[in-house]
Amino acid sequence: MTIEECKFIEFPKILDERGNLSFLEEKTHIPFEVRRSYWIYDVPGGEIRGGHSYKENQEIIIALSGSFDIAVNDGSSERIISLNRSYYGLYVPAGIWRHMQNFSTNSLAFIVASKIYSEEDYIREYEIFKS
Ligand code: TYD
Repeated sequence: MTIEECKFIEFPKILDERGNLSFLEEKTHIPFEVRRSYWIYDVPGGEIRGGHSYKENQEIIIALSGSFDIAVNDGSSERIISLNRSYYGLYVPAGIWRHMQNFSTNSLAFIVASKIYSEEDYIREYEIFKS
């Protein structure tokens, strides 16, 4: 798996003077069956989330509010991607090391995932991931 597989997904945007609306549908916009959603919020300034890889779990990460950066790493190259629009998601396949940083105040990261939570699916040591 390489970081080239990490791709932006643009969700529909229904512009409206009353406020905009976006949505996602499993088969239309998400390239996997959605088994779980979780969200990360109230991140203190300077904190880093993530710092692991998954063996099987695939994710789409959306900055529903505010902004943050995602660093994706395949063991040989790294790319830092900024998310700051609620109608874009970043697809991160299994087998990519990633962490999230530079969270803005009141930012909200929303993640849809292909697997239910399982600690056995995590690789939390970068050296083990690399090897
Ligand atoms: P973790 O995935 O390590 O957070 P991050 O990657 O954002 O730094 O999860 C932190 C803790 O939350 C860990 O103890 C496992 C637990 N957790 C669940 O119980 N269910 C979940 O869906 C997730 C994502 C985490």
